[in-house]
Amino acid sequence: MKLANRVQTLTPSKTLAITAKAKELKKSGHDVIGLGAGEPDFNTPQYIIEAAKKAMEDGLTKYTPAGGVIELREEIARKFKVDNNLDYKPEEIIVTSGAKHALYTLFQVLLNDGDEVILPSPYWVSYPEQIKLAGGVPVIIEALEETEFKITTDQLENAITDKTKAVIINSPSNPTGMVYTEEELLAIGEICLKKGVLIISDEIYEKLIYTEDPHVSIAQLSPELKEHTVVFNGVSKSYAMTGWRIGYAAGPADIIKAMTNLASHSTSNPTSISQYAALAAYAEENQPIEEMRKVFKERLDKLHNWLTDMPGVSCLKPQGAFYVFPNDAEAAKNNGFSNVDEWVEALLEEEKVALVPGSSFGAPDNVRLSYATSLDLLEESAKRMKRFILNHQ
Ligand SMILES: Cc1ncc(COP(=O)(O)O)c(C=O)c1O
Repeated sequence: MKLANRVQTLTPSKTLAITAKAKELKKSGHDVIGLGAGEPDFNTPQYIIEAAKKAMEDGLTKYTPAGGVIELREEIARKFKVDNNLDYKPEEIIVTSGAKHALYTLFQVLLNDGDEVILPSPYWVSYPEQIKLAGGVPVIIEALEETEFKITTDQLENAITDKTKAVIINSPSNPTGMVYTEEELLAIGEICLKKGVLIISDEIYEKLIYTEDPHVSIAQLSPELKEHTVVFNGVSKSYAMTGWRIGYAAGPADIIKAMTNLASHSTSNPTSISQYAALAAYAEENQPIEEMRKVFKERLDKLHNWLTDMPGVSCLKPQGAFYVFPNDAEAAKNNGFSNVDEWVEALLEEEKVALVPGSSFGAPDNVRLSYATSLDLLEESAKRMKRFILNHQ
């Protein structure tokens, strides 16, 4: 069967593929350490699980409104007010089956064939594919290590054309862990307002920041910016709820309405039980996030030290999310490999450490390590990486 043109160039998610390969090797008896995970290694907090059980027992197991139950949208509006000083009405919020599906839905309602979306690299793997699936064109601008993997205003201005519909800002970033400052966001926002470009602000790692500076949403910086931004967030990363599939988007009512209409014909609604679990997650007074954040911070500090101690490896210190994104180009070259992809493959073969090559994120000199795994395993993988580098010198 000849499949549709739109899937001919679609590539499977490399991050999911590397996790699957590591699991497969493990299953066949190899002592593999997988550092590809894009999800917290903690269990969903018990109070959330109890809320889900209660929802089931109370019969909350039926279809819900396509954009999510009103109680949850009101609770998300409250979260926006408390965390970001943003006022959204429930009709300006859509709850979806994960933030991934919220983004997918936005591109579907926003883009006509040939419309451009500016995508800073390194980027999260699903953005380019989702843009292309909607008929759009990802216009990649390379955020360099020298500018901490953040785009400059010159780069942004130069990339904007008559066809530019939107720009994606993902802060804290997957894969780099970098966080834009308020000043940087203001400067980007000014250009977008001037040129009429929609800002897609993916804030899924909002709660995982390890510096003193709090998270800033670009939408909170002025009423005009709020009108020009769709914010994406969810419970996957901040409440260890990746499998529950609850994310959301908040933005101008006309965009959210179109997204909700589309959702009504695709998912119908996100899982009812998960919606009530997410409601409980946010409504709890004693938020569990701080405990998780502290554990991540300790791992980041140690892992960053171990990495910068390896010959040929340099690594900016990330400020958020749960990834480090070292540059291994020199190590790969000194080890006799023609590129970092090959180096990553050999590392998995020889030392059974699974990393995600930076080429998956548009940055072929780097690799992504997730520290959503125990400190013991991180230490062991750092030892193996160093041994691999030294063995191949
Ligand atoms: C940058 C970024 N955005 C969005 C998502 C989607 O998260 P979910 O669909 O689990 O809400 C992820 C998950 O890996 C991510 O890393």
